Amino acid sequence: MIRAFRAELLSVAEDPRDAPDAVRHEADGLLVVEDGVIIARGAYADLVEHYPNVPVEILPGLVVPGFVDAHVHYPQTDRIASHGEQLLDWLDRHIFPAEKAFADKAHADAVAAFFLDELLRNGTTSALVYPTVHEQSVDALFEAALARRMRIVSGKVLMDLGPEGLQDTVASGRAETEALIRRWRGRGRLGYAVTPRFALASSDAQLADAGALLAEHPDVLMHTHLAENVHECAAVAARFPEAADYLDAYDRFGLVTPRSVFAHGIHLSDRACSRLHESGAGIAVCPSSNLFLGSGFFNFGQADRHGLRLGLGTDVGAGTSFSMLYTAGLAYQAALAREERLDPFRALWLATAGSAVLLHIGDRVGALEVGQEADFAVLDCAATPLLARRTRGADLAERLFALQILGDDRAVARTYVLGQCAWQRP
Ligand code: GUN
Ligand code: ZN
Repeated sequence: MIRAFRAELLSVAEDPRDAPDAVRHEADGLLVVEDGVIIARGAYADLVEHYPNVPVEILPGLVVPGFVDAHVHYPQTDRIASHGEQLLDWLDRHIFPAEKAFADKAHADAVAAFFLDELLRNGTTSALVYPTVHEQSVDALFEAALARRMRIVSGKVLMDLGPEGLQDTVASGRAETEALIRRWRGRGRLGYAVTPRFALASSDAQLADAGALLAEHPDVLMHTHLAENVHECAAVAARFPEAADYLDAYDRFGLVTPRSVFAHGIHLSDRACSRLHESGAGIAVCPSSNLFLGSGFFNFGQADRHGLRLGLGTDVGAGTSFSMLYTAGLAYQAALAREERLDPFRALWLATAGSAVLLHIGDRVGALEVGQEADFAVLDCAATPLLARRTRGADLAERLFALQILGDDRAVARTYVLGQCAWQRP
């Protein structure tokens, strides 16, 4: 079936730092969708005559690609806003106890459903997601994503050095990973990521086995944390004295590849940045989390000097919001703390096509281009009295920036998945 949507359209297919004409904007646009895929996009006046019998739905707001959250933990949904600690103590005190509950499939099902609905409420249609160490926590998430037709990438967390009750073994980690890949490969819009929690939670043998799993399954991603917190970095340096730096601790086990996504990367050596660039691996920048856990500010200047691949992640539950708009606003503030300017179009790119390319789904989503899947969010510049007042008479860049600084889930009027409305603000 063919349907069309008339609205203001905005997308940023490439990093505007490299491609100044990457911003694509139709003040009065038409998006034509057949069976969930975009078959035409352009100015309404130019396109409409080519689709005389196609029903046209008018969308009330600024249509942008569905957001792509490049790093988020669904089992931490109920531990968002947990007070008082930096990373390692926060994990011990708040997160590990909560993750133990995911041994229960019914609990995992309930949280996964809430989590994915929360993503949709925030305009997020794709994500790279941490579950827990439990195999059934992945099943719960994938089943819920399949039901919502969302594009979700995830994979059982590997952590044979985790706390009691939250450990696997090299053998069980491999067996469950292989079973999950077999069970879920090719289903819906799902993808798999080999997911060692971080360097400190896996033995050398498990890190090596994760590298072997990656080599054996060339279609899967690698997803982990990197250089987030100074105490974590010190512990990694002590555990891996022969490694040149934190990244090298992963590299020695074959975990630094073009399909590797590292969350954070706050404390990186120039050597590590060169190696990231050379390998094609990328960083999910998580400014909300970095502020909440006192981890620091991502160094956009260093990353850009090295040409690193970047995306944007909320990192809930260390992140304090599911909103990629709000997180984009914090990315601006994190950049400015290091005297770097993040323009609002680049921030939108990070939250959409940048993240999509990082997750190797950039051919499918992220830019509202012909041939891509019709996942999009309808943003309301008048969602709150303050937003309405601040954006009255404002140009596109000002409106977009106001949405990032003042907006959040309230600014998402609707979310569409494969051309169908999956969320509508009451
Ligand atoms: N490093 C290892 N595990 C975690 C986690 O759950 N959250 C964050 N932010 N960092 C981590
Ligand atoms: Zn994380």
